[in-house]
Amino acid sequence: MADRIAEEKIDQVRQAVDIVEIIGDYVQLKKQGRNYFGLCPFHGENSPSFSVSPDKQIYHCFGCGAGGNVFSFLMDIEGISFQEAAIKLAAKVNIDLDLNQASVHKERKASKEIQAMQDAHELLRKFYHHLLVNTKEGQHALEYLLGRGFTHESIDKFQIGYSLNSWDFVVKFLSKRDYPPEWMEKAGLIIKREKDGTYFDRFRDRIMFPIFDRHGNTIAFSGRSLGAGEPKYLNSPETAIFHKSKTLYNFHQARASIKKLHQAVLFEGFADVIAADRAGVENGIATMGTALTDDHIALLRQNAESITVCYDSDNAGIEAAFRAGNLLNEAGFQLKVAVMPDGLDPDEYIKLYGVEKFRNEVIGASHTWMGFKFLYFRRGKNLHNEGDRLSYIEEIIKEISKLSKAVERDHYLRQLASEFSLSLDALKQQQKQIYFAEKKTAAGNSPVNRKPVIVQKQVSELKPAYYKAERCLIAHMLKDRDVAYKVQELLQGSAFNFDEHQAIITYLLGFYEDHLEPDTSAFLSYIQDENLRRTVADIEMMSINDEVGNQELTDYIKQVLNYKIRLKIKEKEAEQKEAERQNDIQKAIRLASEILELRRSL
Ligand code: GTP
Ligand code: MN
Repeated sequence: MADRIAEEKIDQVRQAVDIVEIIGDYVQLKKQGRNYFGLCPFHGENSPSFSVSPDKQIYHCFGCGAGGNVFSFLMDIEGISFQEAAIKLAAKVNIDLDLNQASVHKERKASKEIQAMQDAHELLRKFYHHLLVNTKEGQHALEYLLGRGFTHESIDKFQIGYSLNSWDFVVKFLSKRDYPPEWMEKAGLIIKREKDGTYFDRFRDRIMFPIFDRHGNTIAFSGRSLGAGEPKYLNSPETAIFHKSKTLYNFHQARASIKKLHQAVLFEGFADVIAADRAGVENGIATMGTALTDDHIALLRQNAESITVCYDSDNAGIEAAFRAGNLLNEAGFQLKVAVMPDGLDPDEYIKLYGVEKFRNEVIGASHTWMGFKFLYFRRGKNLHNEGDRLSYIEEIIKEISKLSKAVERDHYLRQLASEFSLSLDALKQQQKQIYFAEKKTAAGNSPVNRKPVIVQKQVSELKPAYYKAERCLIAHMLKDRDVAYKVQELLQGSAFNFDEHQAIITYLLGFYEDHLEPDTSAFLSYIQDENLRRTVADIEMMSINDEVGNQELTDYIKQVLNYKIRLKIKEKEAEQKEAERQNDIQKAIRLASEILELRRSL
């Protein structure tokens, strides 16, 4: 690890950044009173228990207990060290951390390779784009794209390019600019020949779609063949900077629109994302041609409440939409499915029918998830055939049974009844039977597919009175340095009963020795211990009065001290019993009077 960053620098960074803005990049936050609320990024949940306080510059989750300041947030969510978090934040607010040269050098060396990989991608992205739009070599590729309905505007926006029909153009281009070929191979831009150790270009004579990370850095390419060449799409391999399972095509550009609309549209292909963008659907994203992963879902969860799945309407597309839909539905999204007619994909649809019709009749006319299942289970069945019809009805009733809202169940049962001229009562009866039958099997099997969400229980109501009193005292001590000293004085050398609380006030008094003003966020950095930090964040989120009177303080202190007295009484009572058992009357009497004395002092 590099040298410590100077304390003043850390303070400077902390004061310059806004925690709401930083967390807002990861969690969709809504203002409610003084604080912001959202879905906790650290555990799965459907209703927001994650809060951020702009006044205190801290966050806290009432569900899982996560909490801390802007540094700990970045450390936890990105899985990075304190130093790395500080460097990230400092760069955001343009503060020079003054890291000593040796340590800067070390850091740089470690990330030099990564940096070179990224730089090479940036450079090639620009160059490929230039080849496509400005040169004779790229002309046929440009004509192909324009012929397919791509516009100059979207070619620019998505930075589409063209790679030359050459085995060594990129090899030479990069080595001339001093990029080590070993690194460029690791970046997936060139490939080493087994035979003689020479290198050749990975992408040749292809339409180049740059892949960006969420910050807009180019991290990979996907190259589409111009004709019937195989494979149709050639992707960069997995590298230190590119992970397919975490990357969503167009996420960095779509994010603003996704956040604004609280909604994203998930497509199967890049061409669809780009065509939809042309149609004014700017919140479109796609996977890298792979299935949706937990990482994709987590990323979407941080930014959207609702997802519209808009896949190809061929068989493979419908199956993929069904799988993706199940995952998204389970993750708690409001889910819709846009279905295209006649085996078209969105790109082809837009080319055929125009942008207006796509917006209104495809996206605008999306099915609910249940509505989509009505279509899904119908495929491959001949509903004029009685057997097919009955198995279809049963499948749909099974799906209806999964709905938690009675109104919804009723709605879809009616739809089913009217479509097949069945009695609603009969359907309802069958639905109940299926529901109870499924419930029984579910209870018999262990729930293998359910991921347990570990949530710390909020047990403070069950805690003794001193527990709450100590928390209130700490809350006031965190707000006011004078109160902190006063509490210490009132305690007269006694400690808090709950060890964690005592540790916090010990830290706090240490903190106040060189900080004249309270500063929760700074204090959280000062503590460092993860558990204590969570507790402090938890206490900070309690609502207490701004001012605390002497009487209130004395009352709390009394509860803290009374607990100790009660413990002592219990101890003496045990001793007294023992003395009586041993017939030591003298001792028993002495203890009885001591106990009385202690009782009086309560
Ligand atoms: P166009 O044919 O150019 O319109 O592309 P498309 O998006 O319609 O392609 P398709 O529906 O066949 O595939 C959807 C997505 O799957 C693409 O955007 C790619 O990400 C991926 N994909 C398709 N073909 C290949 C392939 O041959 N190799 C890889 N690695 N991915 C592919
Ligand atoms: Mn297509």
